[in-house]
Amino acid sequence: MNIVVIGTGYVGLVTGVALAEIGHDVCCVDIDANKVAKLQKAISPIYEPGIEALIEKNIEAGRLSFSTDLKSVVVDSSVVYLAVGTPQKQDGSANLDYIEEAATGIAQSINQDTVVVVKSTVPVGTNHYLKEYIQKQTPYQISIVSNPEFLREGVAVHDVFHGDRIVLGADDEVALEKLEMINQGFHIPIFKTGLESAEMIKYASNAFLATKISFINEIANICEKTGGDIREVSKGMGMDSRIGSAFLQAGIGYGGSCFPKDTLALNHIAKNVDYDFGLIQSVIDANKAQQLKLVKVLKSHYSDLNGKQIALLGVAFKPETDDIREAASEVIIEELLRCGAKVSIFDPVASANMKAVFGNKIHVADTISEVLLQADAALVVTEWNEIKNIQLAEFTSQMNHPVVLDGRLVFDKLEMKQAGVSYYSVGTGELQINEPIYI
Ligand code: UDX
Repeated sequence: MNIVVIGTGYVGLVTGVALAEIGHDVCCVDIDANKVAKLQKAISPIYEPGIEALIEKNIEAGRLSFSTDLKSVVVDSSVVYLAVGTPQKQDGSANLDYIEEAATGIAQSINQDTVVVVKSTVPVGTNHYLKEYIQKQTPYQISIVSNPEFLREGVAVHDVFHGDRIVLGADDEVALEKLEMINQGFHIPIFKTGLESAEMIKYASNAFLATKISFINEIANICEKTGGDIREVSKGMGMDSRIGSAFLQAGIGYGGSCFPKDTLALNHIAKNVDYDFGLIQSVIDANKAQQLKLVKVLKSHYSDLNGKQIALLGVAFKPETDDIREAASEVIIEELLRCGAKVSIFDPVASANMKAVFGNKIHVADTISEVLLQADAALVVTEWNEIKNIQLAEFTSQMNHPVVLDGRLVFDKLEMKQAGVSYYSVGTGELQINEPIYI
């Protein structure tokens, strides 16, 4: 099947490459000529392990191409995927400007009846709106299918071929059957439903996962006062198949381009229908507080952060990505700088992105030894393997004060104590500080 995918971000590029991999002829279209030029040379604009090999393989097989000219490529295709961003507006609602621009592009380019597949995360009711929006701009019959994605950054190539389900929402049986046929090559269970249900499945799934994370973080905060190790609590809870162990890892909260945006958007969707979704508001509020938890603990042990050298171990919102959107690291750095601290960061791939935000206000270290050198405290923000594998002796040999605050439960508190490190980690019960440090 000839397929056009509009948008070459995390969703569009991974979707297009995967559709080519299962045998379809795919052209990915983007307005960014630089991006398209790089993609034509199999250079990925996003850091996603395994994606470039797949791009190269499918370009060579003649199944994958890239273009900036929607009109010229859409003539050969009756299926167009919409995978452009829906960033959040100031009020938390989803910004549909890019979707509408792409939709107009479709209406002005197609020369046959067309199925429009909406991959982008859009508020409930948007698919119906888009169908009318496009239909009134073209004489050709428009069908619309909501096909939300569930890819996780950093493991998107794995997820696209090993998802738990493919959701297809439509009120048009013919279009549904077409999309069912297109997706057969993934050999993943297909769940067919209505448009609004498919749109809500996406928001509700992300919001539920974010709720699990905020829940376990709140339990971790209670464990710090009651005793009990959150790692053990999480393991014991997760063995219950009704709870499940996934997304039950306590830490310093969720970041990324989806959970923060989608929880706010769902809250806005509820408000728009006069429903007070208090639960999701508390999830959002709990996450905001958790992202600053390490700074709060740091302030309780240094009377004044002014002039203190603080090392951040990791800045990406999670491992295996260079993405820092809504990452805890950004609000941590902002608060440390506000308190007069000197901030040095280390991250295997995301440092340049954070440097672009803070410029010379922060120092970027090339190695872990460098970021720890003369530091008065180290904050574990992202659980990269390089950080998990730090030799504990480095903390005592390199740092001015061996104080480690572990936001991702990477280290063992007993081993840290034996290594002479003043150690705190989220949810371990009492704070493990060998001696109070007052400056
Ligand atoms: C998420 C959803 O998982 C995915 O289905 C959706 O399509 C896009 O949004 P993503 O944001 O890429 O994916 O990453 P994810 O692995 O879900 O992690 C999101 C955030 O939650 C990260 O900051 C991560 O550190 C945090 N997290 C995740 C926890 O704090 N604890 C956990 O147990 C899991």
